Amino acid sequence: MKISVVGCGYLGAVHASSLAKLGHDVVGIDIDEAKVALLSAGQPPFYEPGLPELLTETLAAGSLRFSTDMADAREATVHFIAVGTPQQEGSNAADLSFVEAAFEAIVPQLSPGDVVVGKSTVPVGTAERLAAGIEASSARLAWNPEFLREGYAVKDTISPDRLVYGVRPGDEHSVAMLDEVYASVLEQDIPRVITDFATSELVKVAANAFLATKISFINAMAEVAEVTGADVTQLADAIGYDKRIGRRFLNAGLGFGGGCLPKDIRGFMARASELGAGDALSFLGEVDAINLRRRERMVDLCREVLGGTIEGARIAVLGLAFKPDSDDVRDSPALDVAARLAELGAHVRATDPQAIETSRRLRPGLDYVETPAEAAQDADVILVLTEWREYREIDPHTLDSVVSVRAILDGRNCLDPVQWREAGWTYRALGRP
Ligand code: UGA
Repeated sequence: MKISVVGCGYLGAVHASSLAKLGHDVVGIDIDEAKVALLSAGQPPFYEPGLPELLTETLAAGSLRFSTDMADAREATVHFIAVGTPQQEGSNAADLSFVEAAFEAIVPQLSPGDVVVGKSTVPVGTAERLAAGIEASSARLAWNPEFLREGYAVKDTISPDRLVYGVRPGDEHSVAMLDEVYASVLEQDIPRVITDFATSELVKVAANAFLATKISFINAMAEVAEVTGADVTQLADAIGYDKRIGRRFLNAGLGFGGGCLPKDIRGFMARASELGAGDALSFLGEVDAINLRRRERMVDLCREVLGGTIEGARIAVLGLAFKPDSDDVRDSPALDVAARLAELGAHVRATDPQAIETSRRLRPGLDYVETPAEAAQDADVILVLTEWREYREIDPHTLDSVVSVRAILDGRNCLDPVQWREAGWTYRALGRP
């Protein structure tokens, strides 16, 4: 099929190249010339394992190209809209200006029978509002939310847990077109849910709200563990064996960040309030608050280990990305804690395998170094704030002679306390004795 993908950020770039890999003829369109130039050269403007290889392969095969010209969408029959919906400045609500601009730009390119497919995460009711403009061109609208995780984006696109199509009741044409787009995905017996616009929009935010709630639940247990001497990691293992609960997304620590979970729960609350259902989601305010409290707790723990004073202390920060295998520092708990400590007068030296450049753009004042050993030089305490594999595997003895004080704070419960304590280190973590 000939397919256009409008918006070549994280979601769009992965989606376009994955569809090309699945055998389609794809054009990715973005207004950002620099981004299009990089992608056309096979270089994603962000870190995502496997994506450079996929881009190179599909560009070389001629099944993928990128463009800044919306008219290049004209030949396609299916048009995915994959632009961002960030949190609005000064409000919890989502900023829909990119979605609206993309819909306005695609309409003049449509031919009768084309299907425009929204992938962006939007407030419920958006598809219904945008459908009229599409239908006036005798084209159809469908909503097909995306569930990919950064770090696993290609795999999640090619082998998702499920596909969701939100369509007008009885719109078999759009369903057939989407089935053709995803033919090789559906061959893997991936479940597909066909529903209305509103449900498809809600599925996405409900899933992220559930995941955020699960993380905040275990972090609330960590708060209780901290005042009782219990161990939240063992607690998570024990409740996680119950198949109804499940162990995944029960890792206590610094909490969730990134470009999705925080802004999606806030946008969901804002939209529910507009619709008069604010009470139904008031618990998400608590989920957000528990999550943000973990960052404060990390700063307090650091102060405690430093003997009461952060000012003037030398602090090594290992990890800045919001999670491993990503260079994304949007709303990153790790970068936030590093910046707070610097604001409190500490000499913070921070490192990350991939996120130094992205961190520098957001927090130019921090001192960034390339390796854990450089960060730990003469440090009074080391903080592990993102659980990259290379940090999980550090041998305490390699840092023994580098640091000033042997103290490590595990913000992600990713280190072995026994190993560090046996090596003579003070080991402290969130929710663990
Ligand atoms: C999330 C969802 O998991 C995806 O399904 C969704 O498609 C995506 O948002 C989106 O809306 O686009 P992502 O933001 O890539 O994906 O990251 P997650 O793997 O969900 O992690 C989110 C945050 O939660 C990270 O900061 C991570 O460190 C934290 N986390 C995760 C925990 O603190 N504990 C856990 O047990 C799991």
